[in-house]
Amino acid sequence: MVVRYMGTKRHMADHVRDAIAQLEPDGRVVDLFSGMGSVAESLKETASVVTNDAMSFTAALSRARFTGQDRQSSSAEVVERLLPKYKARLQELEQAYASELKSEAIALDGSRTDLLSYMDKAQHVGNSATRRRAARTAAESSGFAHYELATLYFSAGYLSLRQAIELDAARAAIDSDDRLDERDWIVAAWIAGASVLVNAPGHTAQYLRPNSASAHTRIVRTWSRSLWDEFANSLDAVSQVGSESWRCQNSVYVGDALDLVSAGELRDIGTVYADPPYTKDQYSRYYHMYETLYRYDFPDSSGAGRNRSDRFTTGFSLKTAVVASFHDLCRNVARMRVPLVISYPSSGLLGDAGMSVAEIARQYFGEVETHSYEANHSTMGASTGASKKSAMENLYVCLV
Ligand SMILES: C[S@@+](CC[C@H](N)C(=O)[O-])C[C@H]1O[C@@H](n2cnc3c(N)ncnc32)[C@H](O)[C@@H]1O
Repeated sequence: MVVRYMGTKRHMADHVRDAIAQLEPDGRVVDLFSGMGSVAESLKETASVVTNDAMSFTAALSRARFTGQDRQSSSAEVVERLLPKYKARLQELEQAYASELKSEAIALDGSRTDLLSYMDKAQHVGNSATRRRAARTAAESSGFAHYELATLYFSAGYLSLRQAIELDAARAAIDSDDRLDERDWIVAAWIAGASVLVNAPGHTAQYLRPNSASAHTRIVRTWSRSLWDEFANSLDAVSQVGSESWRCQNSVYVGDALDLVSAGELRDIGTVYADPPYTKDQYSRYYHMYETLYRYDFPDSSGAGRNRSDRFTTGFSLKTAVVASFHDLCRNVARMRVPLVISYPSSGLLGDAGMSVAEIARQYFGEVETHSYEANHSTMGASTGASKKSAMENLYVCLV
């Protein structure tokens, strides 16, 4: 997996692929909540795919992996091509932040409390009017002056200041590259590189603080890593999936799954696969850093988590709306007259709201089969508590 992701169906992908293959889809398969695309990937020899997710950074990864002709450049050629612009912007930012970089180096060499105090005092758009003004100026600047977002939003927290500067310098180089056919690949590798460095427990709802000796050691180690090296490695990791002819039939959408199925615009569809969120944790809270990095849009941001204020929310993660969301999903897919395959664990929020997937699906589909698997799906610090939770993972195959 290119970026560690809550709720990935990587461990289940073969079961899902086999269930879909048995339906012999007469058309493309829609992966409606595709996340990191583990199910779409598993279908590379079964059917063409349409992926969709509400988070736009996931779509950059999907486009890089599931669409496009075979790449012409090697990773080394990309690195060489971008290096001069990277170095130029890096130098400018190093000069602008010289004294802060010095303070950071001293804090990293010092004790646990030195680092804690450095992080607590650090200024960012969530706590400083000066930084907010600087963000507004950068948002409205053209040329290199635009490239300061990671520094202003995420430094001395999710990333070290040095790493944030490197990230901005790399984005300046990426955005001035003229090989547009390789852009998704390169931006996806930039996100994947950032995800290797992030000082957080697999997601970015909040960053780690040096509250213990082991956390201190971990942060010092994480913050010593180089973005540019991780970016170069990630160019290889973000590899294209399947054959060129498979990729040329695939499409990638970004948006609310319920809008996509209700709009009636999907064509040549044989089956819909849905893996909606199953806890009350909104993904947009857990992955806001990647979303803001990808969009590079200098959003309003607040609080210690430095989270964008315009986050996407879905009814699937609200106890008061989850039942209606499942009705919407089933109603609209049944109207398309194609089978619907749903992944949903026994411990999901729908159960807390007193309903089951099968109960709702039977109101729209002629036949609903349930397959259950023992699963250890990662909750990675999400609200269900323990980091690994044993549950039954169910696959509902709904036939019109
Ligand atoms: C359980 S995860 C899917 C994981 C994916 N199957 C994989 O293997 O990586 C749910 C995904 O749905 C997305 N999401 C949540 N609500 C959505 C909505 N209403 N429309 C589209 N995507 C949504 C989240 O961003 C998240 O990526």
